[in-house]
Amino acid sequence: VSLQNDLTEMLNLRYPIVSAPMAGVSGGELAAAVTNAGGLGLIGAGYNDANWLTQQIALCHSTRFGVGLITWKLAETPDLLTMALTYQPVAIMLSFGDPKPYIDTIKKSGAKLICQVQTVADAIYVKQLGADIIVAQGSEAGGHGASRGTFALVPAVVDSVMPIPVLAAGGVADARGFAAALALGAHGVLVGTRFYACKEALGHAQAKEYLTKSTGDETIRSTIFDSLRQLNWPRPYTARTLQNILTANWNKDPEILNQYLADPKIYQTAVEEGNYAVAAIFAGEDVDLIHEILSAKQIIDEMVKI
Ligand SMILES: Cc1cc2nc3c(=O)[nH]c(=O)nc-3n(C[C@H](O)[C@H](O)[C@H](O)COP(=O)(O)O)c2cc1C
Repeated sequence: VSLQNDLTEMLNLRYPIVSAPMAGVSGGELAAAVTNAGGLGLIGAGYNDANWLTQQIALCHSTRFGVGLITWKLAETPDLLTMALTYQPVAIMLSFGDPKPYIDTIKKSGAKLICQVQTVADAIYVKQLGADIIVAQGSEAGGHGASRGTFALVPAVVDSVMPIPVLAAGGVADARGFAAALALGAHGVLVGTRFYACKEALGHAQAKEYLTKSTGDETIRSTIFDSLRQLNWPRPYTARTLQNILTANWNKDPEILNQYLADPKIYQTAVEEGNYAVAAIFAGEDVDLIHEILSAKQIIDEMVKI
């Protein structure tokens, strides 16, 4: 199977594998490790500020990287995009919201524009806006997303936006998922959860440990943790996390959630202390397939054995 195609040519890659810009997880060290292993690493700067991003870019030590931003959040911190572009990222990925206000700035910079979408209609919309690469994200995905499954969404997006390269996202954690994505017509994959349980990823060691022991059955989509974090995520986005006492009990006993909502510091403390009985671990259905914390190079070397 040839792994060279329009996507690898556009981004100058050995393998059509891109690591997702996971907020709080995808820093410069992971991005550089993914790029050095033949893919493209994206730094996830969604909730962070320009200082944080500068530090993470420095950790790439001149290795090629891209930056992923949360589109609706960018309206609150537009300097993040301007600053990111001064470091000449290979690509900027925008997800969750209307990318239109930022298209001209990104295109003029020379960075490739990657747009992540959850519906065929949005794929056609971002194609018309000028997206260079489109990520079709199914609801199996860890973190935020919407309701369509990867398996039917990917080929439908491929057909609708041809010849624009499409990355499949949501549920790809090993060589089987990678091969399936290519069989569905995708040019490559955007992988999140598998790279969370990775040596170079940011994130609490205990959270990574949980990923190696959990199953997809134990994940759930909700808006609970956005409410607790006081983040104004717009509709229709929900987030897939591992279940914990909050997801298990909030609809049986809303008082439990109300206590946390009344004092956001309680949740914040749980996050800081790595208390995952309460704090969210954002993860996809593909945690079933993750049994070990590996290096980015080990993950990619295994994934390309198709
Ligand atoms: C821990 C975590 C955090 C995420 N944060 C972001 C984010 O900040 N921005 C974004 O565009 N996508 C984010 N995502 C979603 C990814 O872009 C991607 O769609 C998803 O990880 C793909 O599915 P997978 O997790 O099954 O590989 C996140 C995913 C995870 C697991």
